[in-house]
Amino acid sequence: MRTYATVPELRVALAGAPRPVGFVPTMGALHEGHAELVRRCRAACGTVVASIFVNPLQFGPSEDLARYPRDLAKDQRLLEREGTDVLFAPEPAELYPDGFAARVDIGPLATVYEGAIRPGHFAGVCTVVLKLFHIVKPDVAFFGRKDAQQLAVIRKLARDLDLDVAIEPVDTVRAEDGLALSSRNAYLSPGERGEGLGISRGLFRARALFEKGERSAKRLVEAAREKGLAYDYLEAVDPDTFGPPAPGAPLLLVAAARVGKTRLLDNILLG
Ligand code: PAJ
Repeated sequence: MRTYATVPELRVALAGAPRPVGFVPTMGALHEGHAELVRRCRAACGTVVASIFVNPLQFGPSEDLARYPRDLAKDQRLLEREGTDVLFAPEPAELYPDGFAARVDIGPLATVYEGAIRPGHFAGVCTVVLKLFHIVKPDVAFFGRKDAQQLAVIRKLARDLDLDVAIEPVDTVRAEDGLALSSRNAYLSPGERGEGLGISRGLFRARALFEKGERSAKRLVEAAREKGLAYDYLEAVDPDTFGPPAPGAPLLLVAAARVGKTRLLDNILLG
């Protein structure tokens, strides 16, 4: 695996790379969830490109940009082990030189749920992902269902702006106890981790009820609610629009909760 920090070097390295070129964008602090994205990419593509960039544009002023976990050497070992060909790991000034001002706005989907709690977050995500797509020029890009609204946002970005990239979703990778893997789990004390487990436990309870035939979104949401957990939201939505689910259509239960100072996200697709 070769690592590049600048756009011109990366472009030279990727000229004539075996197609299809697959791309796995990340912010580092890699875990088995990221590894699964890379494995899916390796299985489907002639060239595997990953990026590590803690994107300042998608962090709010009071968020964890400065303390976001960073360990490039460890991440490089994981990517190498999973068969990555090329890693792009730029510094912020490489993507955002002085005077940089562009923002990509994909409309109302970016302002509900996570977008309502983190204003500007999805504009930051769309801006960096569009830049990375222009730099890497992938045929396929892999995104986790763990961040279900981000996946919907990126699909909309690709559709609305006619991006010539196939967006491949990858199922959420969980710890044995059910907790969805996340770089931010590193912030949790053992007690907080136990508390955070309530999110997935609730979602699995709703899934069991769905499998027994329950179709009422309201009752499924109530089944998923864990007493005492500080939810920012727990809702049944349409997986593409994040509006109300259509009757009979697949339904996504989305949850965000605060555990100590950490926000945890999870979701489960029903049907
Ligand atoms: P990051 O949080 O590092 O996640 C990178 C990719 O890994 C995302 O597509 C995310 O959904 C996926 N992922 C994370 N945890 C996962 C899990 N447990 N199972 C499956 N996939 C998982 O998401 C971002 O970075 C950034 O917003 C980014 C898209 C890179 C733009 O900056």
